[in-house]
Parts: sequence; C-alpha cells; structure tokens
Amino acid sequence: MTIQWFPGHMTRAKRQLEEQMKQTDVIIELRDARAVMSSTNPLLYTLSKDKPRIIVLNKADLADPEITKQWLQYFKTEGHFAIAVDVLKDNVREQIVRQIRAVMQPIHERQKKRGIRPRASRALVVGIPNVGKSTLINRLAQKKATTTANKPGLTRALKLIKVDKEIELVDSPGMLWPRFEDEGVGINLALIGAINEEILPHESLVRIAYERIETLSELLKTEANTYAELITNYGLRNNFKLNGEIDIERSMMDIIRKLRNGKLLRISWEKPDDYV
Ligand code: G4P
Repeated sequence: MTIQWFPGHMTRAKRQLEEQMKQTDVIIELRDARAVMSSTNPLLYTLSKDKPRIIVLNKADLADPEITKQWLQYFKTEGHFAIAVDVLKDNVREQIVRQIRAVMQPIHERQKKRGIRPRASRALVVGIPNVGKSTLINRLAQKKATTTANKPGLTRALKLIKVDKEIELVDSPGMLWPRFEDEGVGINLALIGAINEEILPHESLVRIAYERIETLSELLKTEANTYAELITNYGLRNNFKLNGEIDIERSMMDIIRKLRNGKLLRISWEKPDDYV
C-alpha cells in the first residue's frame, strides 16, 4: 500500500510520532535495504533525541547482498547497531530481542543504582510506508499476519503488545514521512515502490533504470539499442496492445513492477560510497 502525502499528513504523522516517542524507550528503525538513506528521515533522530536505536535493513532478499554487507560495515563504523533481514523469512525476533536487552541494560543499571525497579522496555517500530513495519510487528509479537493499513493521521490509543517478560511493543507502528524535497530520494523511493509513482512519471523511472542497469534489456529478454527501443520491443514481445498499437504505458508499468518485486535482479539503488 502506498500513500499520497500532503503537508497536512506529514504534520499529523509528526505529531503522532512525537506522542508515540514519549512513551517508548527504544526505537526499532526499519529501512529498505535497497535504498538505505532514502528510506529514512533525519527528523526521526531529532524527535527520538538520544533514545537507543536498532536499525533494521529490511527486504534484504531484494537488495544486492554485497552492497548490504557494505551498509552493515558502514553502520558498524558509525557505532550503530544494524542488521539486515528478510522479515518474511528470517527469524528476526530473537536477534531484535537480544539487542533490545543489550541497549537497555545500561539504562536499567542506572535506574537500579537510583533505587528504581526497571519496568518492561517499550519498543516502537518506525519507518516509511511499505517498508515492512506491520510484518515486523507481527513477527515480534508472534501474531498471525494482519492486513491492517496504517494511514497517517489516524490517531489510536497506544496499545502495548507483550513480546516477552521484559519487552513490550507499541502495537501501531510509527509512521515516518518521506523526504520529498530531495529529488534523488523521491526517485529511489519510487524505484522501490515506497511512494506513488504519480510523483514521477513512469517514463522517468524506467529511463533511470535503463541508465543504471547495464544489463536491463538482457534481463527483460528484449533486444534494444536505445531506451525507446526497449520499451517498444518489450511491449511487442509481451503483446501489450491498446487499440491496435503497442501499449507503451503498460510496458513501462510492467518493467517497474518487476524491478520492485525483485523479479529481474537483486538491486540496491544506493551504496555507502555515495555518502562518504
Ligand atoms: P508497512 O507496515 O511498513 O506499510 O509494511 P508491511 O508490513 O505492510 O509490508 C509491505 C509489503 O512488503 C508487504 O507486501 C510485505 O509482505 C512486504 N515485505 C515486508 N517485509 C519484506 C521482506 O523482508 N522482503 C520482501 N520481499 N517483502 C517484504 P504485500 O502484502 O504484497 O503488500 P504490497 O507490497 O502489495 O503493498
């Protein structure tokens, strides 16, 4: 599910996130492994102040494994704890629970010294739309998958789910709004399917993919020497027709869908080298 964002949505999402933050001890920040920087918003750190944070690079099954390794090294060097997972398949619960304990331990020690008995740690899963927040919450809470949509601006009472004796999870995920002011971020988010493509025409997306992926025509099993030939020949090969003509729009949409679903290749649109 993708959401069309308007300034009002962002203001409401921010307010809601501030409320959720007040009641949590540790942030589980989900990012998309294919666009690690574009799928975050630095405002999260302003809002969460110095709360401990666990970075989860999700959808690692769709990303280039070599680049994911580089990202993990990047976060290690920066002194952050990060893991890369496929939330649909991996056993993330154990890894995250272990890490929540580790980051909360010094805080609990300080509380004990002051004579305070620590309560269960409260964790909040935060991320941009479609990054896998609901899926992760279900995994951590060991619930059956639900299809609840989380719309920005929807205020719900804070419900807590027990993860184990020492950890609770905020039931509804923290919604992070994308940074549209940066065109590059918008492109990456559209390429991974985190925002509506209306923001960028399909044509621009496929053209960018064509420029960045040398082997695109090979992967699409379509002979082409130019971008225009690729779209036309792909439509022809798949018999995408509209009123007797090749349906160019359908060709482009189909290529975008395949790229997003990892049907053609595992690709990362950003690498740490771009940020040094
Ligand atoms: P959200 O709460 O952050 O909005 O995300 P949600 O959990 O609903 O997940 C969004 C989509 O991403 C879901 O697909 C989900 O199955 C998929 N997904 C979550 N984690 C992973 C992962 O690690 N790897 C892969 N490959 N997919 C993952 P969906 O139900 O088909 O929804 P949609 O994409 O059609 O909207």
